[in-house]
Amino acid sequence: MLVAHISDLHFGRIANAEVVSALVADVAAHDPDLVVVSGDLTQRARHRELKGAVALLDSLPSPQVVIPGNHDVFAWWFPVRRLLSPLARYDKYVGREAALSWSGPDAAVLAVNDAIGHTVKGGRFTDRDIDAVRGFGRAHEGARHKLLVVHHQIAPSHLTGRGDVARGSGRLLKAAVEVGFDCILDGHVHVSTVRLLEAQGRSILHCTSGTTTSDRGRFADTGQNGYSLISLDDNAVVRERRFDSSHSSFSPYRESAFEKFTGGWRLAAAGSG
Ligand SMILES: [Fe+2]
Repeated sequence: MLVAHISDLHFGRIANAEVVSALVADVAAHDPDLVVVSGDLTQRARHRELKGAVALLDSLPSPQVVIPGNHDVFAWWFPVRRLLSPLARYDKYVGREAALSWSGPDAAVLAVNDAIGHTVKGGRFTDRDIDAVRGFGRAHEGARHKLLVVHHQIAPSHLTGRGDVARGSGRLLKAAVEVGFDCILDGHVHVSTVRLLEAQGRSILHCTSGTTTSDRGRFADTGQNGYSLISLDDNAVVRERRFDSSHSSFSPYRESAFEKFTGGWRLAAAGSG
């Protein structure tokens, strides 16, 4: 199966006028089985930002699995709403319940929201989230692949600082691996990375999308926009694509290939293009 993984759209901080239409064309050209959007559709959850994000979702192929990020809760100048109903406006425009899981012949995909209101930065997983991961994993015991989608980083790395890894991530990851999840898709740090993550004695594929459409790329991805095409069968191939402003289109950036073995995934090959 082919998954298009998009993240950190940040409507309100769109990088340039062409990147959104180029994304729509590029994703359509690859005809993915599933589109995953791992949060931060907006910059401040403003009405116009949410309308822009919904227009993009409507232009992308279905099915889609979409979760909010920390920027999709009410902004700090709405302190009461941010505390009591942080995602009410996001839910009004995007909705959550219908788009948090998907299963097909080759894979089962569960997205878990980690965006909360009562913090300046960062997210959190609850005991309920961990139970949901366990339940979903057991319900899809025979799935060839199980993908977990979150917004904040699932584990610390050289890219993460305070608040970039949601509280409870360690417990969530442990539960996910125990019930057979083999791929994690996330975002939030605005740097595209593909790596293997060791957890519970297994090697898990961890794909982080950079910012797909905003001007908020960081570190090596400063000024860059991208998304990934993840092909899963017996093996996995992750093709990172980048926006080329000189041609107003996305083009190949890096490709990483992995093969399944008894301990999870291992690197098969890596290179540019
Ligand atoms: Fe974020």
